[in-house]
Amino acid sequence: MKVICTERSQVLGARLARILQVPLVNVTFTRFPDGEHYLRTGALDDETVIVGSAVDNDSLVQLMLLIDACEDSHTRLILPYMAYARQDKQFNAGEPLSARAVAKTLSRGVSEIFTINIHDPTVLEHFSVPAQNLSVAPDIGSYIKGLQLDNPLILSPDDGALAFAGQVASVGGWDFDHLEKTRLSGVEVHMAPKKIRAESRPVVVVDDIISTGGTIATAAGMLYQQGATDVYTACVHGVFTNGAYARLMTTGIRDVICSDTIERACSRITAADRIAEAIRNH
Ligand code: R5P
Repeated sequence: MKVICTERSQVLGARLARILQVPLVNVTFTRFPDGEHYLRTGALDDETVIVGSAVDNDSLVQLMLLIDACEDSHTRLILPYMAYARQDKQFNAGEPLSARAVAKTLSRGVSEIFTINIHDPTVLEHFSVPAQNLSVAPDIGSYIKGLQLDNPLILSPDDGALAFAGQVASVGGWDFDHLEKTRLSGVEVHMAPKKIRAESRPVVVVDDIISTGGTIATAAGMLYQQGATDVYTACVHGVFTNGAYARLMTTGIRDVICSDTIERACSRITAADRIAEAIRNH
């Protein structure tokens, strides 16, 4: 077995290869003068684990090319972050079901797919090969444990992510709850934990994705108003569009942490252990 990765998943790919104690394949990535991608892999093995987050259009194309380049090997695809997964319904007539389009494209040429905390697990049904969603909630919990916070409250931004907050909280036996948003006027919203007060205690807001950071920024401001001593945030996929990371740091949030499903300087949690575990079990 060998591990091979796209440019945007180099760190995760290398970590996975090290844990599995298998070679990492060297790949040359370049572009043609017109901007088209080109890549060339080193020697492959009979069995290959491809690691590639589709973070944007370029990384999606690179991943498609890499899958094709590996077609003579038995391949499993690790898709840590899947762009377009949030367009998982046809919200309006005439729209594509973008998640389905991406899932169908990436299924061709691989035998099995693993995702990490995909936005909506129903997206897995669109892959035409067996697909399994893994969770880094235990790893986020372990990271929080290392912060040695005094009686932290783990919050999700909405009830949809409450189960995820519960999985994170179970690592330390901490309290968990979800935030409830009340619209006060056209421009004003109020956010507070549904059942447990945030007063005089540290709070960690956890979510699958931080994109614009708007949800977390509003939540942090409100939680400080409600007397939280420190607010931290941890997510799986740090998308951080339009300067979201810096904007969040201006809100007084103590730290913004994400995993390496999207490789960032603040990727202090790795998905490699969960992926290695899944590969060993299959
Ligand atoms: C929504 O369902 C997701 O779980 C995230 O809460 C959302 O994508 C965060 O978006 P933003 O950072 O733009 O507020």
